[in-house]
Amino acid sequence: MEQPENISMWVEKYRPKTLDEVVDLKSVVESLKAFLKTPKTMPHLLFAGMPGTGKTTIALCIARQLFGSSWRTFTLELNASDERGIKIVRERIKDFARYTRGAFGNIPYVIIILDESDQMTRQAQTALRRIMETSSNTCRFMLICNYSSKIIEPIQSRCAVFRFSMLDKENMVEHLGYISGKENVSLLPDAAEAIVEYSEGDLRRAINALQTASAYTKTKTVDKKAVLRVIGEASPKKVQLMLNKALGSDFVEARRMMYELMGQYGLSGSDIIRQVHREIFKVSHLTTEEKAELANIIGEYDFRLVEGANDDIQLSALLAQFSKFGKLREAGN
Ligand SMILES: Nc1ncnc2c1ncn2[C@@H]1O[C@H](COP(=O)(O)OP(=O)(O)OP(=O)(O)O)[C@@H](O)[C@H]1O
Ligand SMILES: [Mg+2]
Repeated sequence: MEQPENISMWVEKYRPKTLDEVVDLKSVVESLKAFLKTPKTMPHLLFAGMPGTGKTTIALCIARQLFGSSWRTFTLELNASDERGIKIVRERIKDFARYTRGAFGNIPYVIIILDESDQMTRQAQTALRRIMETSSNTCRFMLICNYSSKIIEPIQSRCAVFRFSMLDKENMVEHLGYISGKENVSLLPDAAEAIVEYSEGDLRRAINALQTASAYTKTKTVDKKAVLRVIGEASPKKVQLMLNKALGSDFVEARRMMYELMGQYGLSGSDIIRQVHREIFKVSHLTTEEKAELANIIGEYDFRLVEGANDDIQLSALLAQFSKFGKLREAGN
């Protein structure tokens, strides 16, 4: 999920280097600063939460703060989803711990950042648990994940757990304003609002939208029109249309529109489900009970996607459920 290191990308250019620059997350930052006052007391850390809210950023800030300019030497970043398997976890982590202890006796410990650690199999997690126990003199782990429920309990209980919720809208607007200022772009208030609304607490998504919108404008002014062009005003409307087709029992057409949304607009399964969920509550001819029933169905499919099921198959099944619901409803009227 990490963006490639490329200075022309604003998300990287403006990635905070110290905890003080981090947007929002006051209580997380305060607790971490307290740990850092006496680094020896810092436990293993588990960061869980939504994408683009600062988990990786904060892990890297801590490494910088602990080791200064040589932080890269003492920090191992592994992506648990790329390098699956118990063997790599064991070997790479053990090697790193041993090598570093031998070479640099005077630092408190090395840091191992395991990104996407909720992608590890249970077996790998069990091995990791053992390694965490045996290496706690030399290593601190920072486990990063979207869903802490996928991390086995014994690991969770060995970590200080920090939950990253969606970032505050006002803070996001302010940060977008800051970046615009640095880039000599004038960001109009309703444009900033539109970006933040669309980003749903994901600052990475917001900054990317801002950068793309500003690339579109020749005048260096980002207005709402430029933003809507980027975030595709069409997509919520398309989702609404797809929903109407499904509820009107036109499953085939709804399914066709779903593939269009995924292909043409590049929406992921969860993007679409999230939008469907939002749109449901705008459908005026449904009763509250009916909306609740549909929300329940959506919840089930959202869960399946989180568990790793196939996007288009699950969405197709969701639309099939909606069609069935539509048919029953019609028969009842
Ligand atoms: N709290 C924050 N303060 C300042 N910038 C942030 C914050 N959260 C995200 N960003 C911006 O978004 C980019 C991505 O953030 P980061 O890599 O920390 O997200 P993440 O929580 O690790 O997401 P993922 O779960 O997708 O890995 C950063 O480079 C930074 O520009
Ligand atoms: Mg990350």
